[in-house]
Formats: sequence, structure tokens, C-alpha cells
Amino acid sequence: MTDAAVTDTASTAEPAPPVLQLTRLSHTYTGQRRRTTVLKQIDYGFERGVLYTILGPSGSGKTTLLSLASGLDEPTGGSIAFDGVDLKSIGLGRYRNRHAATIFQQYNLLTYMTAVQNVTTAMEITKVRIHNRKARALELLEKVGLDRHHAMRNVLHLSGGQQQRVAIARALACDVDILFADEPTGNLDEDTAEGIIDIFQELAHEQNKCVVVVTHSQQLAARSDRTLTLRRGRMTSVR
Ligand SMILES: Nc1ncnc2c1ncn2[C@@H]1O[C@H](COP(=O)(O)OP(=O)(O)O)[C@@H](O)[C@H]1O
Ligand SMILES: [Mg+2]
Repeated sequence: MTDAAVTDTASTAEPAPPVLQLTRLSHTYTGQRRRTTVLKQIDYGFERGVLYTILGPSGSGKTTLLSLASGLDEPTGGSIAFDGVDLKSIGLGRYRNRHAATIFQQYNLLTYMTAVQNVTTAMEITKVRIHNRKARALELLEKVGLDRHHAMRNVLHLSGGQQQRVAIARALACDVDILFADEPTGNLDEDTAEGIIDIFQELAHEQNKCVVVVTHSQQLAARSDRTLTLRRGRMTSVR
């Protein structure tokens, strides 16, 4: 075999580097009376083009893991790198604005605004170049199952399930590399949940995004590409 052939084989066999690499990631909360170590030395690489689900009992650290991976909080041990660069070097604010979007468990919507304003505001913050923000926001809201009439209402006048859809549309508006979602289908009926899973699959498979979803839903887990479990501070790959 010639040198060129060796190089060739090596380059084609090279797996895509993870978009997000967790290295010996640990996290301890320090309270007044005791310390709780929630995550223990987790090593894992998340890739583009893959839909992941993370399962685990309540209190196992799923939300903690998402808040660290989405740059909302800093780990007490280990590191997280985006495309090979430590989040601390990128800057957590910059990472959140440009590379990662999060659908929170508690929605965190701007309650004095309408649904459509919540989505256009997210577009302004992330500085995505969009010609007609309002039209694009309405389109995204429709995609997650919220019609124009509801899109124009103040979010406080929407049901829990409708607010959840606004939160999802807002995250989609950011058009970032990684989408994190914390139990995003918890308040949705089965049909709407199926529609949301379709969107996550499309984002991963057609737009090459990395989508990481914390869930209790077996329905969602079954339709993801890889399932991880968090238990006693350790993360294991189920499939
Ligand atoms: N800000 C905090 N301060 C102290 N302890 C916390 C804090 N947030 C979460 N915890 C504790 O960390 C553990 C994991 O919480 P969490 O990440 O919310 O789990 P999950 O999302 O899997 O239910 C729980 O025992 C919880 O009480
Ligand atoms: Mg949680």
C-alpha cells in the first residue's frame, strides 16, 4: 500500500468530531448544610445529525446536565467543549447566543408579550438574519401547532400545552447548532407530541443539528437515534 492510499483510508475512516464533548464533567451543589454531587465524571461526545434522548429518575441531574451543556451554569469539575473549544474560552453568553438553544421545563416565556413577540424577540437576541421576522415567527408557531389567532395572544392567556409550543417555536427561531429540550412534550397530547418529535427528527436528520431531549416519554425515546440514562451521577448509553 502506498503512503497516499494509507492517508486516504485514514481520512475517510475518520469519524465526525463531536459537536459537544463532555470531559470528566462533574457538578456539586453546595448548600448551607451539605453538598450534593449530582454529576460524576461524565465523558460523552454529542454529534451533529443525531437526535438523543436522556432518561432518568426525577432528581437524577437531567436538568443540571442540560443547564451546564447549554452554558447557563458552569460545572464544578471537568470541562465542556463546543467543536473542540472550551465553553469558557468561547464565553458562555456568546455560546448561548450563537450555538445553543434551550427549551426549558418551565418555558421561561416573556409573560407580558404575545406568542409571536416571544419568538421575534428571540430572533433579535440571537441576531439571526431574517427578512420578515414576524412572518417567520408565525410560520414557526404554525409548524408547532399554534394558529394565528393564538399566536397574537398574550402568552399568559394560553394553556400550558400552548405555552410549551411557543417555547419550542422560540428555540427553533434561533437556528443554532445544538438544541436542548427539558421534557418538551410533558404537557402535550399524543398527537401534538408526535408532531414535535417529527420536528426534532427533521432538525437532526435534514438540518444536521444536534438535538438533545430530556424526557420521560418512551414514545419519544423510541424515536430517537440514541438513548442515554442518567442514574446516580453516571450517564450510560442504552442504545
Ligand atoms: N440550585 C440547586 N441547588 C441545590 N441543589 C440543587 C439545585 N438544583 C438541583 N439541585 C439538586 O440536584 C439534584 C438533581 O436535580 P435536577 O438536575 O433538577 O434533576 P432532574 O432534572 O433529573 O429531576 C436534586 O437532588 C436537586 O434537589
Ligand atoms: Mg428536571
